[in-house]
Amino acid sequence: MQAIHPAIEPTEDGSPTLRHPVFGETYHSLHGAVAEARHVFIAGGLKRCPLPHVHILEAGFGSGLNAWLTLREAEESGRTVWYTAVEAYPVDIRTAEALRYADDPLFGALHRAPWGEPTEITPRFRLEKRAEDLVFARMDAIFDIIYFDAFAPDTQPELWTEGLFRKLFAQTAPGGALVTYSAKGTVKRALRAAGYEVTRLPGAPGKRHMVRAVRPRKNESDANLK
Ligand SMILES: C[S@@+](CC[C@H](N)C(=O)[O-])C[C@H]1O[C@@H](n2cnc3c(N)ncnc32)[C@H](O)[C@@H]1O
Repeated sequence: MQAIHPAIEPTEDGSPTLRHPVFGETYHSLHGAVAEARHVFIAGGLKRCPLPHVHILEAGFGSGLNAWLTLREAEESGRTVWYTAVEAYPVDIRTAEALRYADDPLFGALHRAPWGEPTEITPRFRLEKRAEDLVFARMDAIFDIIYFDAFAPDTQPELWTEGLFRKLFAQTAPGGALVTYSAKGTVKRALRAAGYEVTRLPGAPGKRHMVRAVRPRKNESDANLK
C-alpha cells in the first residue's frame, strides 16, 4: 500500500495530531490527542488489564501515538506487550518523524519498523504492523485488548458493523476487552449483537462517554486460563 501524507495539526493539550487527506478527519480529538489516547486506550484498556504479558490489536496504527503510549506504559509498569496494528493507509515516515513525539527515538523506531514482520522495539515491546484493510485482514491470534480506533462511525460506517465486531469478538480472549472512543447507540448495539458485554465509561475531554466491551468468560474456570 502507498504511504499517505497527512497534515499535522495542533490540539488543545499541546500535542499534535494528523488529518487524513481523504477522510478529512483528525486521528485524535482536537480537545487533546495525548489526553484522548491516554484516557481511552491506556486508562480504559491497558491499565484495566491485570496480565503481566498482554497481546494487543490496534485497528488503525495511524500516527503511532497509541502504540507509543502503550510502549511507555509497558516500560513503566514492567510488563511485556505484543502489539499488532492493522493500517490501511500507512503514514509516510517524514510526516511521522515531524510529529513532536518523535523527540523520543522509540517513537521513530515504531515507524521505521518493517511492515508485515514482528519486530522487537524493546525487550518489553514487540510490534507487528500489518498494512492491510481491517475488513479483509485474516487473523489467527487471540488478543487481550483491542484498541478500536477507526475514524468515526458516520465517516466509516463499514467498520463499525456487527459483522466486523463478530470477527474481532472471535479473536478476543475470554475476559478480554475492546475499547473505543465512540459510544454511539449503533456502535453499542452492534457490539452487543456480536457477543460483547458493553459498558459506558466517562469519555475523554470533549466527549461524554467512551465504550469498553468485554468478552464474557464462559464460566469461572476460564478465569484460570491465562
Ligand atoms: C482515528 S485514526 C487512529 C489513528 C491511530 N490509532 C493513532 O494512534 O494515530 C484511524 C486510523 O484507521 C485507519 N484506517 C481507516 N480505515 C481502515 C481500514 N479499513 N483498515 C485499517 N485501517 C484503517 C486510518 O488510516 C487511520 O490511521
